[in-house]
Amino acid sequence: MALRITVIGTGYLGATHAAAMAELGFEVLGLDVVPEKIEMLSSGRVPMYEPGLEELLRKHVAGIEGSTGRLRFTTSWEEVGAFGDVHFVCVNTPQKHGEYACDMSYVDSAFESLAPQLTRPALVVGKSTVPVGSAVRLAARLAELAPVGPDAELAWNPEFLREGFAVKDTLHPDRIVVGVESERSEKVLREVYAVPVAEGSPFVVTDFPTAELVKTSANSFLATKISFINAMAEVCEAADGDVAKLAEAIGHDERIGSKFLRAGIGFGGGCLPKDIRAFMARAGELGADQALTFLREVDSINMRRRGHMVELAREAVGGETFLGKRVAVLGATFKPDSDDVRDSPALNVAGQIHLQGGQVTVYDPKGMDNARRLFPTLGYAESALDAVRGADVVLHLTEWREFRELDPAALGEAAAHRIILDGRNALDSTLWREAGWTFRAMGRPRA
Ligand code: UDX
Repeated sequence: MALRITVIGTGYLGATHAAAMAELGFEVLGLDVVPEKIEMLSSGRVPMYEPGLEELLRKHVAGIEGSTGRLRFTTSWEEVGAFGDVHFVCVNTPQKHGEYACDMSYVDSAFESLAPQLTRPALVVGKSTVPVGSAVRLAARLAELAPVGPDAELAWNPEFLREGFAVKDTLHPDRIVVGVESERSEKVLREVYAVPVAEGSPFVVTDFPTAELVKTSANSFLATKISFINAMAEVCEAADGDVAKLAEAIGHDERIGSKFLRAGIGFGGGCLPKDIRAFMARAGELGADQALTFLREVDSINMRRRGHMVELAREAVGGETFLGKRVAVLGATFKPDSDDVRDSPALNVAGQIHLQGGQVTVYDPKGMDNARRLFPTLGYAESALDAVRGADVVLHLTEWREFRELDPAALGEAAAHRIILDGRNALDSTLWREAGWTFRAMGRPRA
């Protein structure tokens, strides 16, 4: 009989994973402790903006006309325990308040609730990003709590999906990494991932600590690559070089590669910043902190970019103060094709300028509700044009396609001063300059 799958936690990761598992043909039961989320998902709606996810969900959620009916949601741990052969734990591990370490309380409480319900053989699969050593600890807890004893096993299977590409990354992952302690667990996971593996996704089998480390090291590498190019941007700014050309040129070297070399206001989001910090904290606990001191530099280069954008904006409005100046901010999310504003560089810059007395007006295609909730004191507009009306300077801080398609001439009519700063190196400078704008991008000559 086909495996029955449960997914615990229905955020970005869990909701996508649940829908993807149903797409692969499994019967799936998703659990969340927030009843409103379960209600939404059960009616085929997704509580966040993620391209393609709602369609996939509606294709499978039971009760929706024409659906396969393979996907259901619940708040009952008992139901989950009785239903599943494989339980994916997909809850989040945010940064602890005021500390670098990650907050394991959601993972821990998921295990505490799930394990006592395991009355029949089951594989529990951790997907959350956790400090190395967590899986060993959680396996011991599972053994203590599961009524079925050693027939409840643990595996660790980190997730590498990117927001904005979550569906594609889940159905066609670059690789599948599984940390296992038995052949039985490996066999079950090979069955779960048979389709993506047959379609070419490499399947890497390893132990618990390595599986945990693959995730944090991959994210550390990506963060380092971005901070490297942003460090080059700082040097280019000092030497009047062009970081975009530099990135293009070094990216032709296949050993370096051209991806993740876009200089700008740096990385944000719910993953990269907190993952490198948690990694440093964990390495410290293990006595290996020296190995990761470079990540401190990666983090500070990244934070410096935000401050630098504020300085460029101040210079653009006269150099002294933001008082009485109107600043239009295009973009609020941490990256395009997402409504996620967690640790968003764009909102951080907007917030800093606001605190320094500037009149900030933000517009974002999808992130307005979340931005309003997080920064209620900023000004908001319903369109890019409205945000730019009367502005002394325009800041382009999240590279949505909508912003690349703006008409610089029309915006020029609305702005008080035609000055635009491109914090993402994504706009066509020629177009803007031809329309009479002073255009400045980070790490590039003033021209
Ligand atoms: C990241 C990892 O890519 C993913 O594998 C992991 O599972 C979760 O963390 P995500 O947070 O969705 O995914 O965003 P990502 O696309 O990696 O971008 C992160 C940040 O880096 C964004 O703020 C983006 O704007 C910035 N970035 C990215 C740059 O500043 N320059 C680049 O060249 C690329």
